[in-house]
Order: sequence, then C-alpha cells, then structure tokens
Amino acid sequence: MIVVLGELGGRDEYSLVEALKEGKIHKPVVAWVSGTCARLFKSEVQFGHAGAKSGGELESAQAKNQALKEAGAVVPTSYEAFETAIKETFDKLAEEGKITPVPDIKPPAIPEDLSIAIKSGKVRAPTHIISTISDDRGDEPCYAGVPMSTIIERGFNVGDVISLLWFKRSLPRYCTQFIEICVMLCADHGPCVSGAHNTIVTARAGKDLVSSLVSGLLTIGPRFGGAIDDAARYFKDAYDRGLSPYEFVEGMKRKGIRVPGIGHRIKSRDNRDKRVQLLQQYAHNHFPSVKYMEYAVQVENYTLSKANNLVLNVDGAIGSLFLDLLSGSGMFTKPEIDEIVDIGYLNGLFVLARSIGLIGHTFDQKRLKQPLYRHPWEDVLYTK
Ligand code: ACO
Ligand code: LMR
Repeated sequence: MIVVLGELGGRDEYSLVEALKEGKIHKPVVAWVSGTCARLFKSEVQFGHAGAKSGGELESAQAKNQALKEAGAVVPTSYEAFETAIKETFDKLAEEGKITPVPDIKPPAIPEDLSIAIKSGKVRAPTHIISTISDDRGDEPCYAGVPMSTIIERGFNVGDVISLLWFKRSLPRYCTQFIEICVMLCADHGPCVSGAHNTIVTARAGKDLVSSLVSGLLTIGPRFGGAIDDAARYFKDAYDRGLSPYEFVEGMKRKGIRVPGIGHRIKSRDNRDKRVQLLQQYAHNHFPSVKYMEYAVQVENYTLSKANNLVLNVDGAIGSLFLDLLSGSGMFTKPEIDEIVDIGYLNGLFVLARSIGLIGHTFDQKRLKQPLYRHPWEDVLYTK
C-alpha cells in the first residue's frame, strides 16, 4: 500500500490522481491532504513550508482530497481518521492474503533521565571518589573510625595518627613510637644533602614556602631517602628465599643493581650513622623479632668487606626494621605487607620526616636574607 500525506498548495497530488486514473498504480493508496482549515481564515494562510499556501481553488486541500477520492484513493474525512483508514486498508490486504503482516518490533525502552530520577529519589549520582581512611560526616572527623576527641583524650601521638591514616588500624604503642622515632631521626641531615640544598637555593631565589619545600622533596628518590621500600622489597625477597648475603649481593651485582639500603657518601665502617644505631637499639629492646634487620646486618658485613662506605644506611635500617614491625606485630597479613612495600608506604616516612627539615631550611634562608645563590664553580669558570 501507499500512504500519502500532502498539504494544500501546489499541484503535485494531481499527478498521483492522473496515475491512479490511468491504472498505473496497483497498490491501494491511502491519502490525506491537510490544510482543510484554511477556508476558516479570512485572508490567505501560510502553512508548514513555503509552498503550503493555497494558490486557488484547485490547490485547496478540499479540492485535492476530493480528486484523490474520485480517482480511487482511500481518503478519510479528517486527519484524525487517517490512522484508522491506514489500518483498515492494511487489515484488508492481510485478510485477502496479499500481504503477510510482520510482527511489530518492540521499540527499546528509553532510559529514564538521570536528573529526573535523582529528583524523584529513585537513584543517586554514582560515586566518583572512594576514600577509606577518614570521614567527616558525623559530629566530628574520624581517622580510620577513631573520632578526633578520642585522639586527643587518649593522648595519641603523631605515630598513632600515621598508624590510623596510613595503615588504617591502631598499632601497638611500640610500633607507633618507632614510627615517630623514624620521623624524628630523618627530619634533617644538615644543609649539604640533596633535598636541603635544593630547598635552600630555591628559598634564596625568592620562592615561597611550598615551592622551596617541593624543590627539595623532588630530590627524594632511589639514591637519596627514597630507597626504603626497595630495601624492604629486596631484603624480604632475599631473606624469604633463604639467600646467603653473598648470593644476594653478588646476584644484585650481576643484575647491575646497587643494593638499596647499602652505602653512604659520608658514613662508613669507622664513622657509623648514629641514626641507624639508634633505630637498631630501639628495635632490639621493643620488637618481638628483628630477623629482617639481622639479615640486613649480615648483608652489610659482606658489603663492608668490599668497601668501607658500604654500610647499612638509614633507608636500609628503616626498610628492614619496618618488615620486622609489619610481620612481628601480627597485625598484617602477608599480602598486606607486600602491598605496603609495593605501593611505597615506607618512602612516605622519609618524605614526611624530611618535610619538617626542609620547611625549617626555608624559614632559615628567609630569615637570613642572603643574596641570590650562585654556584661556587663560577670562580673556576670566570677566573684565570
Ligand atoms: N650496592 C653495591 N655496591 C655499591 C652500592 C650499593 N648500594 N653503593 C655503592 N656501591 C659501590 C659501587 O660499586 C660503586 O662502584 P662503581 O662506580 O663501580 O659502580 C662504588 O661503591 C661507589 O659508588 P658511588 O655511587 O660513588 O657511591 P656514592 O657514595 O656516591 O653513593 C649512595 C652513595 C647513593 C647512597 C649509593 O651507595 C647507593 O646508590 N646506595 C643504594 C641506594 C640507597 O640506599 N640510597 C639511600 C641512601 S640513605 C639516604 O639517602 C637517606
Ligand atoms: C640524609 O639523611 O639526608 C642522608 O643520609 C643522605 C646524605 O647524603 O647524607
């Protein structure tokens, strides 16, 4: 069947009328020319598009509907009856067996508009950020479920807060005290080390506190303060696999990797790092086991047989002792320990600690009001 919806104006429908009369069309035609209301208006009316304007009686909707009807098309009495006319014609064709109706395809359901659904309380916006360490929805903020007031009432220290916010649990006092000792011992190491040097130069160049701090922090890496996790990772792997210090160190040498946690530019066999000694002493007195640290010391004994400065450095001491803390406290599963070392929690201790010193260096330089720093090598470059 052919369905035609025309408009008043123009004469296109008459070519259809002609074709019907000449018997050129064999399918039933259901047609309607809209715009029959045009006669209700006193003046000429412009309808849908430029051509939809009755140019004379022949071009009126009534005349065209009449002509189509006379030529044999099915023409309803109004636009509203158009749908019924189409359906009746279609059903007739089906009844006569001229067509086989195809089952209707169910249109896909249109999803509900999100803002309307949110307004009606049926759904809520998806979560974009998930955080599991702190919460500020109640009367007071909580760190890993512990309210601020409890933290103050129970006299928690910075180590306890790190324990809550980093490890999401309340570690025993000897552990949080150890964390604090790490922070205190690594807070600063004089003005000559990489971090302090950068911070001092930046502060003297007139930069603000945050810029001076981060320029120092950005030097923390595998050779300076950022070897704690690597030390923990390699010592753990070697110890757990039962490697002798010789097998471990020589194996690393073959791979071309310096043993993280071993070596220092200033400290040596005869000029021991006091920080390392203090950490070891604390752990001996308080930790249930120091097996990883003892292994690190055996490694140090072996590396010292190669060179005097290949001592267990502060990164290596913290890395191995933190393994002892994590496994000895019984508060972490094996996968949790691996994840902590993997993510790099332990370098975080050095970053946190050294920030204290770097902020101090920034204030110091601002107070001293020294001129813009120029590197001493200019003497070598510009003097003959
Ligand atoms: N393992 C094996 N051999 C080493 C190691 C090590 N960790 N460190 C130095 N050596 C040897 C090397 O054989 C090197 O010889 P090479 O030139 O043939 O490679 C020789 O000692 C001298 O090495 P340097 O790079 O001159 O040592 P330097 O004193 O400059 O470096 C440093 C000190 C950066 C700490 C170095 O020992 C090192 O990379 N250690 C591993 C990383 C580490 O523990 N960093 C943390 C340091 S502590 C802190 O920053 C707070
Ligand atoms: C430090 O704590 O900054 C040092 O161990 C590194 C260094 O170069 O002395």
